[in-house]
Amino acid sequence: MKILFTNIKELIQVRETTITKVSGKDMRILPTIKNAFLLIENDKIIDFGEMKNAPTSVSKTIDCTGKMILPTWCDSHTHIVYAGNREQEFVDRINGLTYEEIANNGGGIVNSAKKLQQTSFDDLYQQSAKRLEEIMQLGTGAVEIKSGYGLTVEAELKMLRVIKKLKENYNLPIKATFLGAHAFPTEYKNNKEGYINLIIDEMLPKIAEENLAEFIDVFCETGYFSVEDTDKILSAGKKLGLIPKVHVNQFTTIGGVQVSIKYNALSVDHLEVMNDNDIDALKNTGTMPVALPSCSYFLSIPYTPARKMIDNGLPLALATDYNPGSTPSGNMNFVVATACIKMKMTPEEAINAATINGAYAMNVSNEVGSITKGKKANFIITKEIPSYGFIPYSFGSNLIDTVFIDGKSI
Ligand code: NIG
Ligand code: FE
Repeated sequence: MKILFTNIKELIQVRETTITKVSGKDMRILPTIKNAFLLIENDKIIDFGEMKNAPTSVSKTIDCTGKMILPTWCDSHTHIVYAGNREQEFVDRINGLTYEEIANNGGGIVNSAKKLQQTSFDDLYQQSAKRLEEIMQLGTGAVEIKSGYGLTVEAELKMLRVIKKLKENYNLPIKATFLGAHAFPTEYKNNKEGYINLIIDEMLPKIAEENLAEFIDVFCETGYFSVEDTDKILSAGKKLGLIPKVHVNQFTTIGGVQVSIKYNALSVDHLEVMNDNDIDALKNTGTMPVALPSCSYFLSIPYTPARKMIDNGLPLALATDYNPGSTPSGNMNFVVATACIKMKMTPEEAINAATINGAYAMNVSNEVGSITKGKKANFIITKEIPSYGFIPYSFGSNLIDTVFIDGKSI
């Protein structure tokens, strides 16, 4: 079935050819067509252009007068498979405890792991599917999801099998990342090597055998996994074909960027604390830096120095980090607005970072991330707005009229 969208006020992120990412000054360029049409057939974009060239013989026409169309957001970093919530820790932080103190007192990631270990597969699936549906309504049309709240062989596999079931039941691109190295479980606190061996010798082979993940992640941070640990785990993952996407530089800069690049990481994520060496190391690599401004907002920690990184010629992607501890929000609209407001990215840079560059950061740029012929018909129709800059400007307002995934409104 062919559907024609007519009188689109502005069609945003239009790319004639499949480019995979934009960097530096090019991030300021957001190609658009004013007074446009868009033609889809079943689940694919098949044509677009100026309204005067719109085709006539189609099955259905949808009038978009006053509205804009842009590709759905590509959220390349989430942890939406989790059990329960950590609202109490949120209140504890309001009352003066730090994120680090809470983690040291048995809260944080191991608190979520305890809850998840006690949650059945079906319950975990239901909770996670609800979050996935929530973010789809908010305009996300491709998502990466991590494990890492299991921390036992069984519970990590449970998480990854939930992701597998989400892939089967929802028709947006979903990528799975194994993050067994998210925290040391309490019982391994004094035997860190033992836990790393468990990851390498037991978790990884099972994951590879069941084909449960595309990517491998490590929380490379002071007090969590060292650069040496990260090296060992990424190396073992790579041998099984898992591509690294790594949590680095959230609180300290210890060489996480460099070890990730050594293994040709697809992305390095967080980057709240970046020195000049870290920025230089990323130049001329295929590794996408990913900023998570909602995490900075929620934890009151520094924002990734996006301006400096982009001005140094680097690309940048934006993602939510949706998780129960540091970012209980999967709203990419808020991410885009916060990137503009707090990180001084222009609306063009932020939209590029949240679409085409986000797609790159999870290896789906051949399918989504731009309005390109042959790509998936995954896009957002906005309400009537004066300009696309209105999207970050009106932070907190819901400007989405309809979300199309796989050629169908959801
Ligand atoms: O990306 N930094 C590591 N992991 C998550 C949060 C973990 C948690 O507090 O549950 C993050 O922020
Ligand atoms: Fe994260």
